[in-house]
Amino acid sequence: MTHVFHRQLNTTYPRAVAAQGVTITDADGRTYIDASGGAAVSCLGHGHPDVLAAMHRQIDRVAYAHTSFFTTDVAEELADELVARAPAGMGRAYFVSGGSEAVEAALKMARQYFVEIGQPQRRHFIARRQSYHGNTLGALAVGGNEWRRRQFAPLLIDVTHVSPCYEYRDRRADETPEQYGARLVRELSEAIDRLGGENVIAFVAETVVGATAGALVPVPGYLKGVRELCDRHGILLILDEVMCGMGRTGTLYACEQEGVVPDLVTIAKGLGGGYQPIGAVLAQQRLVEAFERGSGLFQHGHTYIGHPVACAAALAVQRVIQRDGLLEAVRRQGAGLRERLQAAFGAHPHVGDIRGRGLFQALELVRERTSKAPFDPQWKLHARIKREAMAQGLMVYPMGGTIDGQQGDHVLLAPPFIVGDADLDAIVERLSRAVDNALASLPAGSR
Ligand SMILES: Cc1ncc(COP(=O)(O)O)c(C=O)c1O
Repeated sequence: MTHVFHRQLNTTYPRAVAAQGVTITDADGRTYIDASGGAAVSCLGHGHPDVLAAMHRQIDRVAYAHTSFFTTDVAEELADELVARAPAGMGRAYFVSGGSEAVEAALKMARQYFVEIGQPQRRHFIARRQSYHGNTLGALAVGGNEWRRRQFAPLLIDVTHVSPCYEYRDRRADETPEQYGARLVRELSEAIDRLGGENVIAFVAETVVGATAGALVPVPGYLKGVRELCDRHGILLILDEVMCGMGRTGTLYACEQEGVVPDLVTIAKGLGGGYQPIGAVLAQQRLVEAFERGSGLFQHGHTYIGHPVACAAALAVQRVIQRDGLLEAVRRQGAGLRERLQAAFGAHPHVGDIRGRGLFQALELVRERTSKAPFDPQWKLHARIKREAMAQGLMVYPMGGTIDGQQGDHVLLAPPFIVGDADLDAIVERLSRAVDNALASLPAGSR
């Protein structure tokens, strides 16, 4: 009998008792390869000695100091480090304790910015369907996953949602990727015109969509087009890189590969690599200056923002990534993972798409490849794959509702940046068995 209010109340979870490198071990002695970094979190794997040592040092020095009284060396150093490597023009980092908090803070920062500069009429956010920005009410409101939003819809602020950039399903046969991207930008432009450009605060998007649609990479030119459109209307661009940022796609920020600089960018997960709960919003200097010239205060704050031990963990994680050349490792091992996925699933009758960037790759499952018809959601293929993968000693991150919040299944892979070639072999072998076992478990006639 448990007193923990677990995510799923009718599930008995294995108990994690040890974690080292790319593996987690449970109380029964079973070992799992962590091929998803939990939910794209554990970028350095588990038990990294440099991160543990940095946390120990910080605990002995200052474990906690409230940010309305003090700053700390470690928060200042982390902000210096992040701003130095951030997209051009970023001026400051606002620290929080996770991804949803980062998105909430970014939404409020964007709104307050316009109040500060005398444009208080701006009140609308535009975001995309099939996105995930977190589970707190503001983040859930901008998120576009129908299933996650539905029962809370009466509580959510009104947000306009436009189409995701989902080339596999939505690019027409007579369009080039660039034409498809331009069509999406036109759709956004129409949404802005309906609301009145002068009334829109920001467009919010994951640079590479993670949890809800499975490593959806933007088509060339799409985000550049979005950036230009936002600029034309004075609308802020908030890129949510909570999952895809901090090196996951092979560059520290995913938007570097798009040649686009956001006004605000949210990061979390890989920032602290799971060693501590930490997230951040990075803000353009021009926005920071508007706050300085105006009220001088961001009207926000939580008890644990800028937590010294969390900052120490994040600083150590980021320094290891730099010191050990791990962005290069993400590009190299990401290519290796993609090759192996292609070899194992490229001709699989139920894998319609293999996509992603760096060590952020996904498979989209289909009942039939030509029509791209999904499996009936009632069979919960994604949950079967997760179960079968765990039985094979493999952690992956499958999800249903890929297409529209109801239909479609995908499997997301996000292994640690330290993953080796033999680990990649084992991951893809075990995943192959898990997918085939899950498919075999479907009732007759469902395939
Ligand atoms: C893009 C994105 N934004 C926000 C969040 C929310 O982060 P957290 O679960 O740390 O609150 C997530 C979590 O998966 C995410 O993927």
